[in-house]
Amino acid sequence: MDSLSYPYYAVAWLATVVLLLLSRRLRRRRNLNPPPGPKPWPIIGNLNLIGTLPHRSIHDLSQKYGEIMQLKFGSFNVVVGSSVEMAKVFLKTQDLNFACRPKTAAGKYTTYNYSDITWSPYGAYWRQARKMCVMELFSAKRLESYEYIRVEETYSLIKTIFKSSRQEILLKDLLSTVSLNVISRMVLGKRYLDESENSVVSPDEFKKMLDELFLLNGVFNIGDSIPWIDFMDLQGYVKRMKAVSKKFDRFLEHVLDEHNSRRKAEGEKFVATDMVDLLLQLADDPNLDVKLERHGVKAFTQDLLAGGTESSAVTVEWAISEIFKKPEIFKKATEELDRVIGKNRWVQEKDMPNLPYIEAIAKETMRLHPVAPMLVPRRAREDCKVAGYDITEGTRVLVSVWTIGRDPKLWDNPEEFCPERFTGKEIDVKGHDFELLPFGAGRRMCPGYSLGYKVIEATLANLLHGFNWKLPGTMTNDDLNMEEIFGLSTPKKFPLVTVAEPRLPLEMYHL
Ligand code: HEM
Repeated sequence: MDSLSYPYYAVAWLATVVLLLLSRRLRRRRNLNPPPGPKPWPIIGNLNLIGTLPHRSIHDLSQKYGEIMQLKFGSFNVVVGSSVEMAKVFLKTQDLNFACRPKTAAGKYTTYNYSDITWSPYGAYWRQARKMCVMELFSAKRLESYEYIRVEETYSLIKTIFKSSRQEILLKDLLSTVSLNVISRMVLGKRYLDESENSVVSPDEFKKMLDELFLLNGVFNIGDSIPWIDFMDLQGYVKRMKAVSKKFDRFLEHVLDEHNSRRKAEGEKFVATDMVDLLLQLADDPNLDVKLERHGVKAFTQDLLAGGTESSAVTVEWAISEIFKKPEIFKKATEELDRVIGKNRWVQEKDMPNLPYIEAIAKETMRLHPVAPMLVPRRAREDCKVAGYDITEGTRVLVSVWTIGRDPKLWDNPEEFCPERFTGKEIDVKGHDFELLPFGAGRRMCPGYSLGYKVIEATLANLLHGFNWKLPGTMTNDDLNMEEIFGLSTPKKFPLVTVAEPRLPLEMYHL
């Protein structure tokens, strides 16, 4: 054989193998049995069926197609599980296969190219991040050591509300200030955002940045579904992602520089006092399996700030709004508080096991208003079968906890806000009871759930203990708008404006 023809033989041989593989794959795909779902249009798939509140559109579709359905968002298959059984498969029995996240513009542009915890793909880097969360950042001992911060910030909230007694207040603003202060003191070591601190960002500006980050991490960016039009950035989201990320970077650079200076100045005597200190120490650890770089420290810090701030404020605002609709709940809650706590002290975290009704209000709020109504998207790592249907590698997976929370097979009168349904029941939010999953479950479950839940319960309990709540002017409970908007959290569309009156002896407010 002529030696010149060897390359031709090689190419022909390779082409045959590729063709065989492709045709095998095509044949396999043709024989697949995908979950039921609406017929997709070319290019857009089923995006035409998704409205401005995607969790509601998906809920409606699941009522038609069942507990597992397949949609097409542009070029991607999206499987939605919306029953306890399906949540168990995706988050427990086959959790390992669904422990990845899809690549999105938000992950790329707002988290240093997927270097944070939330958007990093399944692998050694993410596993190490979760280990850091369990061992260092959110260990029970560490959370306990920060309890004094949560107490101080709750008192500061009570004082602020007391000072504005009988005036209109925007509750959510005050609530996000508390959670922001709690989290920034735990993560960054100080409030950083006090006007007096000569800070790089003002508190208002910082809150706006967090709101924007949250929104952009939850929005429906068309380029994520139809990659070939991504460059056009039709909704302008990518531009906004780049802008907010630039602002965060300036702030985080400043934070890291300050922390490094203290470490250098204190030398041998240095002791880590906040989460950034811990992360910087870990970044210097030569024994880490995967190196944690400076941009990784910044991405983790931003994740902790964002995860910890918005979610608890949104939940408490929903709880108070629901209570306005049913004043008898306020009566029952204050009866419990007066009986267990009395009128001469504030509620502490360790009181919570003795306040089952307050706990039930928190759970009922998270059932009807889960902060992440479809959790954070997962991604199938390999082809697999669920309930007899084929799910192909790369499929995006959503678990609609919003639908599960409204499943009439699980809950009587599911649309009704009724904390009593939880009293005397063992249903918890820790990812074991699949009918209530506000923090998700399994490997990707929220690592900050214990902290988030503590802040929600203690804030709610003290707001109900310390104040009588009224709506402004002639507004009635029926006038209260309960619409929501969609983002990574699902806040009220119209923030709650309230008027508070002290409920306890006046000396109690001199904190
Ligand atoms: C009311 C409070 C909170 C709620 C309702 C909440 C909810 C959630 C949910 C639903 C997920 C996705 C779980 C999944 O994919 O299955 C999540 C993930 C996450 N949360 Fe939270 N969260 C809260 C508070 C916090 C706090 C206080 C922090 C940190 C300070 C935090 C940090 C994170 C992180 C880093 C992830 C990503 C985990 C991963 O992908 O491995 N969250 N959270």
